[in-house]
Amino acid sequence: MASQAKRTTGTVTSVRWEALDPGVGAHCRRVAALAVEVAVRLRLSEALQYWVEQTALWHHYPVTLFELDTLDRLMKDLGSNGYWSRNKSNPALPDLPDEVKRCLRAMQAPARQDQPSTVAQVVEVANLFVEKMELLPLEYRTVEQMIDELRALSEDDLFRADVIMAAASLPRARRDDLLEIVYRLPVFPTVALRALDPASDDHIGAAQLYELATSDKSLASSLVQVANSSLYSPPKAIASIRQAIAYIGLKASRKVLTASVLRPLFGTAKTGEIWKHSLIMAQFCERLAVICGLVDPKEAFLAGLVHDVGRLAMEKMTGDAAAARERMLRQGCEPMFIEKILCRFDHADLGADILQRWNFPEAIVEAVRSHHQPEQRHSPFAALLYLGEYWTGAEEDLPSAARLALALERTRITVDQMESADGRNGLLDSLIRSV
Ligand SMILES: [Fe+2]
Ligand SMILES: [Fe+2]
Ligand SMILES: [Fe+2]
Repeated sequence: MASQAKRTTGTVTSVRWEALDPGVGAHCRRVAALAVEVAVRLRLSEALQYWVEQTALWHHYPVTLFELDTLDRLMKDLGSNGYWSRNKSNPALPDLPDEVKRCLRAMQAPARQDQPSTVAQVVEVANLFVEKMELLPLEYRTVEQMIDELRALSEDDLFRADVIMAAASLPRARRDDLLEIVYRLPVFPTVALRALDPASDDHIGAAQLYELATSDKSLASSLVQVANSSLYSPPKAIASIRQAIAYIGLKASRKVLTASVLRPLFGTAKTGEIWKHSLIMAQFCERLAVICGLVDPKEAFLAGLVHDVGRLAMEKMTGDAAAARERMLRQGCEPMFIEKILCRFDHADLGADILQRWNFPEAIVEAVRSHHQPEQRHSPFAALLYLGEYWTGAEEDLPSAARLALALERTRITVDQMESADGRNGLLDSLIRSV
């Protein structure tokens, strides 16, 4: 592991870019994570992996290293606070270890020496790769096209071919393998889903809800739990399913049961966090749908519950790809960034395939498919889910000012309205607290 390697020169400063400029800090972490993966692929020693990581973390020091207008624009989109632009020539940063400085100087050299530093080459190629990834939302290209461009650079004298090829051939996870794993998850009760389908709302009665709730202990207890929550504060504790349905009403009962039917999919400790986030999303997206009037609130609620079902599959990744994913997550990379590199697709795309197989309504399937790339759809549904991801602080993807603006425009929702939709007591709050 790179961080455990022997430190040969100097001490690495505890100051982090994040404190100065979060956009640049996050970019440097991504470069460090990818650079370490390239180093692993090249079978570099642990000591060299360590210097690759440290050089990448500081590769914008001094900031004058990469004084490019395009990078300025990119950083703005990624949430830079402007420190980057204001302090190009005089960064208030402490001294760095000699080894890092040596590598940074090698990166700065205008013409490549005959034998460029391996560490510098790895960091440069990783930086190029990450910048291309970061530009994807602005350039509407696919990851595959981007990696093809990267491969083409191996014919160029500027970069070492073996480093380029290592970056372009990181371990891969196959779509079919991941889908196969999900299809083996606790079987989704399609009968229950059909009964709870938003479209059949008008026809579902108390008797049907009662029948469904009594078919499973956890469904029953969720209903009773919500009926006794502070939102409803019954004068006397509610103990039976019938009482619970009567007290909170058919609409609310249907929503609680929909959430509870999906709960077993998110059974492990790791996926429990995803479930919690999904419950929050369901409530928030439903409110946004009511505010904007462009999306059916019942569909928005259901989409919020299942929007990240693809993340369940990603959690089941195995082999070298899983090891690389773990390392990159530890480095602080966003899940979407990692997924695109290791899979060439992401949890949104994978989740949509799963929902399609489970016969979810087409509108939900397609909104989920584009919930991190709202520019892919004209419909406001994907944009609404994007706003949900943004507001609930899921940090699943790189921030993008351009996408946020597009999603706000497409849904005609304002930031003030998002704020007003947040913080109210919600139907599922007691379930969220008990995850
Ligand atoms: Fe960079
Ligand atoms: Fe999410
Ligand atoms: Fe997501």
